[in-house]
Amino acid sequence: MLKTAALLSILCASFEFSAAQLNTLAQAAGKKYFGTATDNPELSNSSYVAQLSNTADFHQLTAANSMKWDATEPNRGQFTFSAGDAIVAQAQAHGQLIRGHNCVWHNQLPSWVTAGNFNNATLLSIVQTHCMSWDVINEPFNDDGTFRQSVFFTTTGTSYIATALRAARAADPNAKLYINDFNIEGTGAKSTAMANLVKSLKAQGVPIDGIGIQAHMIVGEVPSTFQQNLQNFANLGVEVAITELDVRMTLPATPALLAQQSKDYQTIITACKRVSACVGVTLWDWTDKFSWVPGTFAGQGAACPWDENFVKKPAFQGIVNGWNA
Ligand code: G3I
Repeated sequence: MLKTAALLSILCASFEFSAAQLNTLAQAAGKKYFGTATDNPELSNSSYVAQLSNTADFHQLTAANSMKWDATEPNRGQFTFSAGDAIVAQAQAHGQLIRGHNCVWHNQLPSWVTAGNFNNATLLSIVQTHCMSWDVINEPFNDDGTFRQSVFFTTTGTSYIATALRAARAADPNAKLYINDFNIEGTGAKSTAMANLVKSLKAQGVPIDGIGIQAHMIVGEVPSTFQQNLQNFANLGVEVAITELDVRMTLPATPALLAQQSKDYQTIITACKRVSACVGVTLWDWTDKFSWVPGTFAGQGAACPWDENFVKKPAFQGIVNGWNA
């Protein structure tokens, strides 16, 4: 009898755990979506695709690579959208929203752009041709709040930002236009620089709808000013979104690290819930199997809410708790 009761309570606990649905909870909290990044090679894994298509968890997809400049305009004026379209088709088949990522970034640029030695006017026209919608400007700042010395900044100053945003608005009047960056999760020089840029764009009548906070976090290091910072951005009169959420740790993952990671996810989701202008949250993929972290930070990983075998980790419950806060 005791055994049955114990078994039942385990079953109930696990049922409660797995029945929680991340997008359902996000929408119940008044948000537009909970979503995830994904990448084309992953779409051949049927177990992965089954969960990616689970709209109770994910109502929005971001292409991790296939909409970037090197993928979409590998040669000047030659556009290829097949890989990006495959992600759009995956989303459309399940009624999921798409975040276009990204238009102007210093990484994953083809060499015809970086080594073209274009003058100001030509590079601005190249930017204008390339930008159709989406996370229009990606990572324009250095961590100290100065502008990153990308080919765009060194050639055009900050002009490329307005050019790209205006081109994106002209191409798709309905798309929400964002500037997206990392290390703007807490208050500080870089967040202040982002706020000043958005203020100045608005003052000039340049279309800007939102600020994307990437939120590639480290376990135990979510800034205490996270919610305040979201609110500060919202107070500029734009929407905000958490666009690339993951919380990495030094491996191996221990129960203590996983418990702290769960708290960190909860803190971030709670902040989005409490700031009404925060429209949604996107994981930078949902499973450790396809996380970008181990390939970039040696010895680190386990950053996602599902493990490499697609089993939910305590972080999943942290997200649920955040939406229920
Ligand atoms: O496709 C090639 C493959 O053919 C080759 O065998 C393999 C060997 O390294 O490389 C593959 O390309 C990799 C590509 O991801 C696809 O997996 C690139 O080397 C690798 O650099 C690239 O990394 C991407 C990274 O951006 C590049 O900067 C990550 O997947 C992607 O998750 C990451 O995403 C960025 C956001 O766009 C902006 N914010 C930061 C975030 C994390 O870095």
